[in-house]
Amino acid sequence: MIFVDTANIQQFLPKNWFTIRQDALRHAAGLLDRGDGAGGEFTGWVHLPRNYDRLEFDRIKKAATKIQSDSKALVVVGIGGSYLGARAVIELLGRKPDAPAVYFAGNNLSTDATLELMEKLKDVDFSVNVISKSGTTTEPAVAFRLFKSLLEERYGKEGARGRIYATTDACKGALKGLADIEGYETFVVPDNIGGRFSVLTAVGLLPIAVAGIDIDALMAGAAEAMAALQKPGEDNPAWRYAAARHALYTAGKKVEILASYEPSARFFAEWWKQPYGESEGKEGKGIFPASVEFTADLHSMGQYIQQGERLMFETVTRFKSPLGSLPIPQDAANVDGLNFLAGKDLAFVAEQALRGTLLAHVDGGVPNLILEADRRDEASAGQLIYFFEYACGLSGYLLGVNPFDQPGVEAYKKNMFALLGKPGYEAQKAELEARLG
Ligand code: PA5
Repeated sequence: MIFVDTANIQQFLPKNWFTIRQDALRHAAGLLDRGDGAGGEFTGWVHLPRNYDRLEFDRIKKAATKIQSDSKALVVVGIGGSYLGARAVIELLGRKPDAPAVYFAGNNLSTDATLELMEKLKDVDFSVNVISKSGTTTEPAVAFRLFKSLLEERYGKEGARGRIYATTDACKGALKGLADIEGYETFVVPDNIGGRFSVLTAVGLLPIAVAGIDIDALMAGAAEAMAALQKPGEDNPAWRYAAARHALYTAGKKVEILASYEPSARFFAEWWKQPYGESEGKEGKGIFPASVEFTADLHSMGQYIQQGERLMFETVTRFKSPLGSLPIPQDAANVDGLNFLAGKDLAFVAEQALRGTLLAHVDGGVPNLILEADRRDEASAGQLIYFFEYACGLSGYLLGVNPFDQPGVEAYKKNMFALLGKPGYEAQKAELEARLG
């Protein structure tokens, strides 16, 4: 399980930083468990690792097997919570060698990116998984039209139908209506789970399974974390993480940098930003979630972290052991002077980089939290996902906000609809055009 090492934040906080938050944590944990806090109608993810729909889970595995047999690529069309989790897990664990490539579309409005993806699909059999809880989000809706028509050109209307999988609300929304009319196989985003907490539903599981990743092991890892995080107290890693974040925020640290020494974890941090940014960033409050990949970013962002504005703390996620070993070779000429490392493992060098960076950053005024995870596999990915989700719920309640709404996301959508000329937005369009000149 995950261990949260708080040794390197202590010097920045009062001694009782955990104990003074214990009652609030107990209260927050109760709200999550019972689903009766602010936004409680969206806490279906809390018990999901134990309570998921087994029949749908089997259908996901069957659909993944079919896609693996008839496609060399899967295009996942979705944005925000409808794609970040799947991409994070696939990049963290890697697609299995014979599995289809998984591409992501509908998370931008870039003509160039869309054309490039279409070019990649030119001579490749592919399927599409369109994912939208609301079924009305513009970016994926537009991308789906484009990829649906590409499929229909290639396979005909009937053939395309057998290659389209829709993941959406059980009964409402434009995508559900379209899926019913066209007869696509559909999967459900449960009503009580918001987009950013949906990676362990069909939203994440179908693309992850298509990539050949073991979703049974992923869910088992999440269930293990769920059981562990129900135990109250200082040893509960989610309680520690949430309390530490809140204490550091109160002490003026407004930015959290999620750091990892694994390049494959880069997109995991992108996933992590969504629940934390959307759950906490409201009412003029919230920690700004940022991320770095070490050691690469020590040669760019490292300078700022060491000596820039003292705004941030770091949360370093590390996996217990690498999946193999790489001893550094002896070199008779030793022109690079590195023979002092000969015979040592690359992991030893990485460990010293981590230790040295930790001390340097703490000396520079940046508190460091360390999250120790098990080895990088399906089970530990499941544990990390559940851990971060649960700690996010606790953090939102500690901060005193509704962690499960996202009213701010609507502002740009309304402006975009007006500027695009969507019926019903005529008055706003005139006003916005006048302001833009
Ligand atoms: O957290 C959220 O709910 C949002 O960021 C959504 O994930 C995002 O807007 C996509 O929404 P939908 O799945 O309805 O297309």
